[in-house]
Amino acid sequence: MTLTDVEEGKELLELRQSFTAHFGAAPDFVARAPGRINLIGEHTDYNGGFVLPVAINRAMLIAVRAVTLGKGQLELFSRNYNATTSFDLDKIEPAPYEALAWSNYVRGVAAALTEKGLLDLKQVGSAQFMLEGQVPLGAGLSSSAALEVATALALFTLAGFEPSKIDRVALALACQRAENDFVGVKTGIMDQFVSALGQPDAALLIDTRSLEYRAIPLGFRDLRLKLVAVDSAIPHSLKTSAYNERYGQCKEAAHLLAKHFNLPENSQLRDFTVAQLEAATAILPPLLFQRARHVLTENERVLQAVALLDEGLGKPTHLQAFGSLLNQSHASLRDDYEVSTPDVDLLVELAQQHPGVIGSRLTGGGFGGCTVNVVAEEALESFGLKVVEEYRRRTGLEAKMYLLEGVEGGSILR
Ligand code: GLA
Repeated sequence: MTLTDVEEGKELLELRQSFTAHFGAAPDFVARAPGRINLIGEHTDYNGGFVLPVAINRAMLIAVRAVTLGKGQLELFSRNYNATTSFDLDKIEPAPYEALAWSNYVRGVAAALTEKGLLDLKQVGSAQFMLEGQVPLGAGLSSSAALEVATALALFTLAGFEPSKIDRVALALACQRAENDFVGVKTGIMDQFVSALGQPDAALLIDTRSLEYRAIPLGFRDLRLKLVAVDSAIPHSLKTSAYNERYGQCKEAAHLLAKHFNLPENSQLRDFTVAQLEAATAILPPLLFQRARHVLTENERVLQAVALLDEGLGKPTHLQAFGSLLNQSHASLRDDYEVSTPDVDLLVELAQQHPGVIGSRLTGGGFGGCTVNVVAEEALESFGLKVVEEYRRRTGLEAKMYLLEGVEGGSILR
């Protein structure tokens, strides 16, 4: 069994030391932004729907030092990639080659913050950044959103903003824009939003249309429940193209439904009910019908899950109902939305069959990545043994378990 956890204090110290060794002086501060795990509400955020993510105790850290060299320039060193790059703030261009693609998140955020008029990059000056990812890269736990949010916090701080004065919703929107325009994935707002605004021991219910949100306490500690991510170890190369394809299909489905129901042209799937969809079967091609059914039923599941959490999962029937919503979400992602893979399905199935598991499903964009599991504390060890080992036996893949906790959104550590 691989139980991976992070000793934040130790990692921070190491990062500061490594910064000093690399750049020849100590950093001024460290910007930290967490990754996320989504409990339920998958592929609903670019449809104006509801999501229920948790900011997790694995973060992206950027050690930062302001320097007075020349005109505005950022010099970046990534510890994960052991690579350096730099760019001018008055002429932000994409990374010159693929091996430096990680820097596009930083470049894109700097560009989006100016374009949106949130930050005058002249006030940022020049700086050195050392990046360190504690969020496993490419595992579906939003390492990229965490990097974006940490970058934005670093840039605001360099420009003299107090962390409490930063408009975090606007910050999240700029980070999403960086991902959409600079990186080229049509992602919704969920990951950046929860990375910027997450709250300890709670999930955030986000209405991705109005951007209203509410912290939903999980109470897992009192209930002796654990939030566990299992990384399927499937590399997901299909991710970007398939993600953008789903985005397009949802748009098309919403467009056809709007026409049918005489609603404004810019309606989103969020604007329709499952009953309306069922009444409109004939006007949607079967594939679009399936995609829309996932999104609409998933929105309902999020609201049902929140109602259960609001009342508390202490009642056994509530706990069971909550788990069953997670399991239904997976079935819908697998069958209607088709973003799972056979290996991820196996991982989820093995988890769901385990008696200590309340619910299990694919989390994040899909095509590999992580599953989210709610597991009874006393069953944790046998979960690791049975699920991870059986997965290895059947697939030859080494799944990794991460014990997660809900933490607060991004912050500046002095
Ligand atoms: C990725 C995107 C999010 C969201 C999920 C699927 O994580 O970044 O915006 O769409 O996929 O729910």
